[in-house]
Amino acid sequence: MSPPLLSVQGLHVSYGPIRALRGIDLQVHAGETVAIVGANGAGKTTLMKALSGLLPLAQGSARFLNHDIHHTPTHILAHAGMLHVPEGRGTLQRMAVEENLRLAWEIRPSAAPFESARDGVYQRFPRLQERCHQLAGNLSGGEQQMLAIARALMNRPQLLLLDEPSMGLSPRYRQELFQILADLRDSGLGILLVEQNVRSALRLAHRAHVLSQGVFTASGAAADMARDPAVVAGYLGHDPFNPNPATA
Ligand SMILES: Nc1ncnc2c1ncn2[C@@H]1O[C@H](COP(=O)(O)OP(=O)(O)OP(=O)(O)O)[C@@H](O)[C@H]1O
Ligand SMILES: [Mg+2]
Repeated sequence: MSPPLLSVQGLHVSYGPIRALRGIDLQVHAGETVAIVGANGAGKTTLMKALSGLLPLAQGSARFLNHDIHHTPTHILAHAGMLHVPEGRGTLQRMAVEENLRLAWEIRPSAAPFESARDGVYQRFPRLQERCHQLAGNLSGGEQQMLAIARALMNRPQLLLLDEPSMGLSPRYRQELFQILADLRDSGLGILLVEQNVRSALRLAHRAHVLSQGVFTASGAAADMARDPAVVAGYLGHDPFNPNPATA
């Protein structure tokens, strides 16, 4: 197997005296989707910020390809192909959809013109094309989430870090979003996803980790995790209409 895109060993991250992550080991290979699931405050966003270079590592190592994340600025990591779509989305609210895409493209212009990259993204997100002149700040929550992912795709990522992409979305948008993520997974992109929507995340991912109070408490193939009694009891709840959540 080729070396992983992302490789994390013994990672600790602190906020002053608070140790928010303790001893995280994690790998994401090319074409692989890995989900990290956990409750509020488990440390999911902290992990994403540390991996994209926004928070210092207190201990351990993290590499993206041949870049030591601890010593590489975020924009260099983005340029190298690791794109972080943050919690709360991070679009340029007072700019139109298309301007958002153009500015993202300019960070790492392709040999082909902007228009061809844009049209590729619009094919995946027809809803954004319909709203190309609308200000990002006036889009619905679901559309803003799609724009945030579309911006990351303009940078030709090898690895996407997605922090709770389904947060706050209606069931219809959530379903649409997970379908887009499944298409991206099937296109061979590496994806690291943190989610509270455990059922959908486990259905999407190849592998998963449960994060609880800063440590991984379970790890394995996502399909196995969806059948793990501890994961089912802790995160999936009892569904009287479907006693076997793996088939939900
Ligand atoms: N800037 C900060 N300063 C101090 N403590 C922080 C800071 N940011 C987060 N924490 C703490 O670190 C822990 C992990 O927070 P984090 O935001 O990573 O959790 P999360 O899993 O993303 O939660 P959520 O599902 O609510 O987004 C929490 O106890 C939180 O209170
Ligand atoms: Mg969070």
